[in-house]
Amino acid sequence: MRLTAQDKQHYLDQGFLIIPDFITQESCDVLMQRARELIAGFDTNAIKTLFSTKDHSHAKQRYFLDSGDKIHFFYEEKALDETGRLTLDKLHSINKIGHALHDLDPIFHAFSHTNDIATLARDLEIVDPLLLQSMYICKQPLVGGEVSCHQDSSFLFVKEKPVTGLWFALENATQENGCLWAIPGGHKTALKSRMKRDAQDTVTFEVYDETPWSLENMIPLEVSRGSLIVLHGLLPHMSKENHSSHSRHAYTLHLYSKQHHYAEDNWLRRSQPSALKGIAID
Ligand code: FE2
Repeated sequence: MRLTAQDKQHYLDQGFLIIPDFITQESCDVLMQRARELIAGFDTNAIKTLFSTKDHSHAKQRYFLDSGDKIHFFYEEKALDETGRLTLDKLHSINKIGHALHDLDPIFHAFSHTNDIATLARDLEIVDPLLLQSMYICKQPLVGGEVSCHQDSSFLFVKEKPVTGLWFALENATQENGCLWAIPGGHKTALKSRMKRDAQDTVTFEVYDETPWSLENMIPLEVSRGSLIVLHGLLPHMSKENHSSHSRHAYTLHLYSKQHHYAEDNWLRRSQPSALKGIAID
């Protein structure tokens, strides 16, 4: 599947592009089934032990900071009570799985390394694309939390050219179940902040512009199952809480060019930085 000149222009002007039916319904089923299996195999006791140590927030942050080259599981905040105990079954408590599914899990690896994605990256002029991270996002029914307005480049900074996000809808995403919202053309604004991680693993936010986002300019990006939303790294976007009884599963990938420099003080790291892989099937 090739992008048309009109698609490319839309992406340049708006900072996002919706491609319906980019993946098959069967692919959606396969990824959702695999995510169910991974969650079923996830040992909640291990994580409870980790999080019930004295320094709860430190352990929690450590688990997050270590997830760059692992498959880690993160809860919906509303699925936990004040003592950190799950109030729902495991399958309906997970907010997301990240951040190296595309490397470590054979099913997600196969999905993430296709000619369709390589061709898309070429059309988006990402030379020698590398897959930086992957996330499986559940946005659970009733407890799916809000993701406040942000630019992905705040978290994954590449100086020469912002990262590109690929957001695959594995279920219909509607305003009811917490679809993405974005400010069309907002990618033309400068980066407002950066999350940095220093050599001691201290995480800080560097703020360049404190002006709040003009949320009244946001539009909902409602898409059907199988659609792909391409997101420019500087595009302000968010998603609201899911108050509906339907989940809103999505799989995301972030890409950047091998020719560019992934900032060393980004939070997401790998024990072996050279282990980042291209899209080509290997
Ligand atoms: Fe994002």
